[in-house]
Amino acid sequence: MPRSAVAIALPPAEFAAVSAQLEEAGYEPIEVKTADDLEALLNQRNDIGVAILDGEYDFDRTLEMYALLHDDDRNIPALMVVAARALDRMSLAGRARVNDEYFTRPYSAESLRWRVEAMIIRAEIPVNDSQGGIIETNTPDEPDADTRRGQIVIVFNPKGGVGKTTIAVNVASLLQIRKGQRVLLVDCDTVTGHVASSLGLENVRTVADAWTEDMNTGVVESFSEIAVPHQNGVSVLVMAESPLHTEILEPKRVAEAITSACLVYDWVIVDMHPDYGPLNQVIFERADKIIVPVTPDVPAIRAAVQFREVAVELDIRERLAMVVNRANSGVSVADMERTVGMPALAEVRSAGMIFVRAANEGRSAVERFPKEKVIDDIETLCERMLATRESGATKSGQGFLGIFSGGRNTNPSMRAS
Ligand SMILES: Nc1ncnc2c1ncn2[C@@H]1O[C@H](COP(=O)(O)OP(=O)(O)O)[C@@H](O)[C@H]1O
Ligand SMILES: [Mg+2]
Repeated sequence: MPRSAVAIALPPAEFAAVSAQLEEAGYEPIEVKTADDLEALLNQRNDIGVAILDGEYDFDRTLEMYALLHDDDRNIPALMVVAARALDRMSLAGRARVNDEYFTRPYSAESLRWRVEAMIIRAEIPVNDSQGGIIETNTPDEPDADTRRGQIVIVFNPKGGVGKTTIAVNVASLLQIRKGQRVLLVDCDTVTGHVASSLGLENVRTVADAWTEDMNTGVVESFSEIAVPHQNGVSVLVMAESPLHTEILEPKRVAEAITSACLVYDWVIVDMHPDYGPLNQVIFERADKIIVPVTPDVPAIRAAVQFREVAVELDIRERLAMVVNRANSGVSVADMERTVGMPALAEVRSAGMIFVRAANEGRSAVERFPKEKVIDDIETLCERMLATRESGATKSGQGFLGIFSGGRNTNPSMRAS
């Protein structure tokens, strides 16, 4: 089946770069210079899936073109460049009523390709014909559209040493190796991060490095371009090597880049530094799920209770789920659920030196010790994550809790608290 054509109204150099990417993806890029060009094209062909418009440099022409895309019976989604200032003010990203989308300069041609692809897929999802014959298409906020996108899962507990990095690394590896998922593992712990080193990757180019270089070259790389592949197939992305040079990691830009990565990966697993700073807050906001590892000791439990309270304030409470780590130490999971006030998604047993030994060899325990019981625990955790994804539960939908605690002996009154 031939793929759609994409009408493009961008300056010549950008047209060349973007059209090369779209051609590679099997789309037909068609340059339109004026609104008349676009009108002629739309009258002539009915396979224009998306139009890329320039709302930054020539706003009047863009308005005219935009009107043509939504004339009478047409509803062709627009992907529009706007000034960064404008995007902030509109706070529209992902919330437009029709399925238009916005982006800002500088951008990478590759990231536009993924967005075009996602927009065309979304536009093809059959939708209800609401009143008056107006076809409403799904916005990205609706679960149907979301199921085709990768899930952002962050691993967080404000206390150190509870197993965040261990769980992030091994969940990412298991999803990639055993479940055939495409996984991006992000080390967002810019202070004590050791995701890369525990996977044997030394001196990796970081996002801070890449974005600093990009300022000079004018080329903007997406997270998938900056990430380094591990031998197990997981793409590994480190935000920064030094906590002193992170100004370039502007929180909104990081959040946007993580969201774009969802078009390339099935899972974006983010290991976080234990703090509530602006970077972590925007990432919380973007997360589909937040896994909270808790070890059965008072400081870790207190920290989780604190996070639950913060989560209520940030309105992300329903995305949280606890993973009881080092679960075989005599404390019952039901007690932990009651005390922490979060349902347990899974338990991970204490595994002696397994994780340390695997890390010393630069591999995940999933690869190095595949037969260990603790890896069965990680697999169960991954299967439950996959189950929510398939059910279409997302941050805007039912959330994490109902599904995972369904089969467990959780006290249901607790979930509502
Ligand atoms: N289930 C477990 N069994 C054995 N060791 C564990 C387990 N979970 C974590 N560890 C070890 O505990 C230490 C702290 O874990 P880590 O993942 O670095 O915590 P965090 O990222 O929350 O600071 C690491 O040495 C790790 O290997
Ligand atoms: Mg850590």
